[in-house]
Amino acid sequence: MMELVVIYVYYSDEIIEDVRSRNDIVDVIGSYVNLKRKGNSYSACCPFHHEKTPSFHVSREKQMYHCFGCGVGGNVFTFMMEHENMTFPEAVEMLAERAGIQLPEKSMSGEEKRLADERTRIKEMNKLAAGYFHFLLKSDHGKNALSYLQNRGLSDDTITKFGLGYSDKYSDDLYKYLKSKGYSDDEMAKAGLIRIDERHGPSDRFWNRVMYPIVDTNNRVIGFGGRVMGDGTPKYINSQDTPVFDKSRNLYGLNLARKSKRKGIIFCEGYMDVISMHQAGFDNAVASLGTALTVGQVNLIKRFTDRVYLAYDSDEAGTKAALRALSIMREFELPARVISLKPYKDPDELIQTMGTEEFEKRINEAKSGVMFEIEILEHNYNQNDPQDRTEFQKEAAKCLSRITDPLERDNYIEAVADNYSIDKKTLKETVTAYGLSAESRIDTSVFREQTRRGSPEEEKEKQHLKSERVMITWLINDNSLIPAVREYLEPSDFEDTVYGDVVKSIYEQFDSNGRVEPAVIINHYQSKEEHEKVSSIMQQDFGVDVDAAEKPQAITDLVRRVKRKSVQRSIENAGSDLELIKKLMSQKKAIEKIQIRI
Ligand code: UTP
Ligand code: MN
Repeated sequence: MMELVVIYVYYSDEIIEDVRSRNDIVDVIGSYVNLKRKGNSYSACCPFHHEKTPSFHVSREKQMYHCFGCGVGGNVFTFMMEHENMTFPEAVEMLAERAGIQLPEKSMSGEEKRLADERTRIKEMNKLAAGYFHFLLKSDHGKNALSYLQNRGLSDDTITKFGLGYSDKYSDDLYKYLKSKGYSDDEMAKAGLIRIDERHGPSDRFWNRVMYPIVDTNNRVIGFGGRVMGDGTPKYINSQDTPVFDKSRNLYGLNLARKSKRKGIIFCEGYMDVISMHQAGFDNAVASLGTALTVGQVNLIKRFTDRVYLAYDSDEAGTKAALRALSIMREFELPARVISLKPYKDPDELIQTMGTEEFEKRINEAKSGVMFEIEILEHNYNQNDPQDRTEFQKEAAKCLSRITDPLERDNYIEAVADNYSIDKKTLKETVTAYGLSAESRIDTSVFREQTRRGSPEEEKEKQHLKSERVMITWLINDNSLIPAVREYLEPSDFEDTVYGDVVKSIYEQFDSNGRVEPAVIINHYQSKEEHEKVSSIMQQDFGVDVDAAEKPQAITDLVRRVKRKSVQRSIENAGSDLELIKKLMSQKKAIEKIQIRI
């Protein structure tokens, strides 16, 4: 199948540049990250990975950021895209608003326009379908569905708030309705609202079910879950992923939960749990969409909160899901607490039987993820068998060693020691030992990455790319070198095509402005990898501080090195074209005469 590549370039370069230059990167990043000033540069602990000493740098001069620890970097747009999970146009729009810049109508290529239109029409269809299902629920046809929901304790207000609905018994009434509104079979199928069967033609995907519209944080209906009324299977049918619905990056209820005044976000497993909790006043509840929790969802939630509660079902499947969720949360450094629902099956059941106060109490008593993990661990070992018990204690110590905050770790060591009658001092020593070995593991892996030696050819290659990088750094840090260097070096002399492109941009900018604005160059790239690569070159100051007296020779050497390799490459590619080879050989000789004067 052909892969759809969606390129979002809606705004002209001038507009993008206007937006960029009117949003100072230090101000923008400073509103998300606590930046400390150090001379001309600002630094902080990196918001993209966990660290204790700051290696995240923001340069006002270059209008770029770069983390020497994890390699992220870019300009103000990259930051918004990475930190706020935005697409490029969203970042442009957000920053334009921040700077009070009125954006023109988006201009799109034919294909971009088609895709944007398609998404718009799918959202329109979803909205119509949600309205239609809701109307049916309130109509004569929806009597059973309505009483089903009411019997489950839902008020009319809640039903309206969540826009619940009913899909009729007929297998094609939604199809006919949307058809009458001018939508094609293809479009409806793409929206996941109908299926097309070769023999039987189109039919509704959902019928005779209670319908739960899924709404994104922009309040648009992006998909549906549909539940049988009673015990049929499958219990739920969910929309498939569509151009507007990505299950791994959305959460049920987040449109409401994001506005909640309550502390943190409660993750649960089911649609009904979310609805029930919201009705009881716990309007910070969300659920994943018929799949296990994903990294994308945790990434999304990090934008809204720094504390998470898990209210997963109390059965074995729920416990497994909670453990898995905890490990993702840990990766993201998001503190998670686990709410015990026992002996009830899920939050819905607990609230329906015990009421709001009991749930509030359970929230307050929620255990930290670590304690929960250790408790689960305990069940796997026979505490009366010395060997088993030792194993358990070791595993518990491992869990504890993952707590990064030393005070918090000590408190938990204390609690675990008390709880499981383990000697405090011994436990602490064991935890420390695991902590150290874990730390040194990380250190050595980074170290190995940096010092790993490849074959001699690989090393030479790396060395060469470094020369190209250093060359670029020089050009950026001292624009006055550009005229002299470009006499000898063309963008195509650079082996690395991204570097070559960067050099091209440098020359072009120099021609039109007489100077180079590094952050502008980043605008030419779309992917995160390219942003990182380009920003890392620009953020480095390889040897740019050599003595003024040595500078001409240093640059000369560099230019010769890059040029030599370039000509060598051409010679290798010249095949048996003798004329060409001759020409290249004389070029090669001339290289040794190059002399950069500054
Ligand atoms: P549950 O079975 O716990 O559903 O599955 P629930 O939401 O609590 O519903 P009630 O209370 O029984 O009515 C948890 C979630 O797993 C997904 C749904 O997202 C559901 O909310 N699921 C479950 C499916 O996608 N398909 C299924 O067949 C079952
Ligand atoms: Mn459930």
